[in-house]
Amino acid sequence: MRRPLIIANWKSNPATLRDAGRLAAGIEKRIASIRGVETVIAPPFPFLAAVARTLKTSALGAQDAFWGGAGPFTGAVSWQQLKSFGVSHIIIGHSERRRLMGETDEMIARKVTAVLAAGMHAVLCVGEAERVGDEIPDAVGVQLSRALASVRQRQLKKLIVAYEPVWAISTTPGARPDSPENAFRAGTYIRKIIAGKFGAAASRSARVIYGGSVRAGNIRPFIEAGAMEGALVGGASLDAAEFACIVKNTVR
Ligand code: PGA
Repeated sequence: MRRPLIIANWKSNPATLRDAGRLAAGIEKRIASIRGVETVIAPPFPFLAAVARTLKTSALGAQDAFWGGAGPFTGAVSWQQLKSFGVSHIIIGHSERRRLMGETDEMIARKVTAVLAAGMHAVLCVGEAERVGDEIPDAVGVQLSRALASVRQRQLKKLIVAYEPVWAISTTPGARPDSPENAFRAGTYIRKIIAGKFGAAASRSARVIYGGSVRAGNIRPFIEAGAMEGALVGGASLDAAEFACIVKNTVR
């Protein structure tokens, strides 16, 4: 069985370089002795260098990457630049980027394709804005299929699909975490779609993780339910002690 994976998505936090260094150091100190869990810290771009110097246990992540390499792309940060920085994991298609920055399925597909072709881990976020009842809406499958349109079977081992229902993200008004049972259902649904495209055996090399209001007190049932191999953590990753507890409570 693979080690579970916990990814800290700091979003556009904290406000200063100094606080970013402190937060990274605080997390690293607390998780140094925890075995059996992989961790990734994804700070904002300007703090990557400082955070990279602090990391001993966690891998370095980024929250987006442009699909082109070096070139005339004003304001863009390319996967190539991130790779040269030691970034191994790139979050792609987060619902905040889809909603606030107008990212389309097509743009997300180009990013996933470029990042996987570069041999980096793509953390592809999918998730519905609303859910009525327990059924996982088709919109999730559509997001996933479109994002994977140009992905090759052999690249699946670097693919991580983060199921993040938008209504469960802690900053959404009225947010509540999904239930472990429904997250299990979502995990199974996502695996089925990957298996439909690449075959059941190949689909197992991709990982599926859960995101949305994950805390130290609720992570365990998501992992124990069985379909989720980790979590993408937003708000709680800004508190070193809370984040370290999430990592600790994930150990199988
Ligand atoms: P949250 O955010 O843990 O604060 O709900 C998760 C995410 O948006 O990645």
